[in-house]
Amino acid sequence: MIPEVLPNPGDSVILCMIFHNSSLLLLPFSLTGKEALTHFPSLGPSSSAAQGKVHVKQCDLLKLSRKQKRLCRREPGLAETLRDAVRLGVMECQYQFRSERWNCSLEGRTSLLKRGFKETAFLYAVSSAALTHSLARACSAGRMERCTCDDSPDLENRQAWQWGVCGDNLKYSTKFLKKFLGQKRIGKDLRAKVDIHNTNVGIKAVKNGLKTTCKCHGVSGSCAVRTCWKQLSPFHEIGRVLKLRYDDAVKVFSSSNDAVGHSELSAPQSHSHSPRHPPVPRSTDLVYVEDSPSFCRPSKYSLGTAGRICSREGNCDSMCCGRGYNTQSRMVTFSCHCQVQWCCYVECQQCMQEEVVYSCKQ
Ligand SMILES: *[C@@H]1O[C@H](CO)[C@@H](O)[C@H](O)[C@H]1NC(C)=O
Repeated sequence: MIPEVLPNPGDSVILCMIFHNSSLLLLPFSLTGKEALTHFPSLGPSSSAAQGKVHVKQCDLLKLSRKQKRLCRREPGLAETLRDAVRLGVMECQYQFRSERWNCSLEGRTSLLKRGFKETAFLYAVSSAALTHSLARACSAGRMERCTCDDSPDLENRQAWQWGVCGDNLKYSTKFLKKFLGQKRIGKDLRAKVDIHNTNVGIKAVKNGLKTTCKCHGVSGSCAVRTCWKQLSPFHEIGRVLKLRYDDAVKVFSSSNDAVGHSELSAPQSHSHSPRHPPVPRSTDLVYVEDSPSFCRPSKYSLGTAGRICSREGNCDSMCCGRGYNTQSRMVTFSCHCQVQWCCYVECQQCMQEEVVYSCKQ
């Protein structure tokens, strides 16, 4: 389960973003303990001068390119939002891959991001989706200075504004993100194209999850006035969609058309005439160029699956890669025989129960 409250930036390991080849990567880095890692909202309005300095400092703590650093310094609230986005992306990835051989652990991520596996594709997509989502939310929550609610100029939306309802500002976040990642120069390099494609799949997944929510106003629900606004799906929903895309990821190669002077991503001709995989991958398909390793044994990409908890009826065979699993029983306590006492609390006893745990052998 993913906790609702994400860990604090003061935790011993926080995550930082490294932007590489105009795409974003997620990497862990350790804190020295000297950094000023305060949350903005805790600073009162009187400390606005200090706040300005803090936000510049926060930008300096992130590993950004020169241009990105400039954008970050110009945009109070961005550094925090970037950090929230990294946390959101990492937690969602680990949640979606909790029962897979590769569990999205941070070990080996640097090596993984240099390759062109399906897992690399997922990392790019979930990272850009988290950024898009966090930015749009930060705008509507008033955590950013340069953007506010969704300000699409349609009437319904303006009415929503008057009622004090604030839509999530996806338009701003998408535009900003494209500028931030600097996607304009797409080279001929296949890997660069693949990374950009997968980044855009992530952005699109957030966009496709946008829902219009309406509310009625008027005497006893007569709905004389209806206001509508745009709302993002919960991020779990987007993570789930991207995981399905990972399961169906399309392997691509470069088909260059030198006469026209550009090349496109192409999927190999399918023998099975599978209608799901047309020759050109769709803008919603995750794409990859290399087959993944098994992730069974420790490697530079992962720690392997020894010791991983699995479910006997479910994934033990595949997760343990045929090595078998250990069975261990342990006692767990839980609340039981609860009774409402007069007045007014619930009294429970602690019961013990045996629980069997299966874990992959070495
Ligand atoms: C992933 O699996 C490794 C063992 O292979 C384990 O040490 C690590 O804690 C797991 N990470 C997560 C996030 O579940």
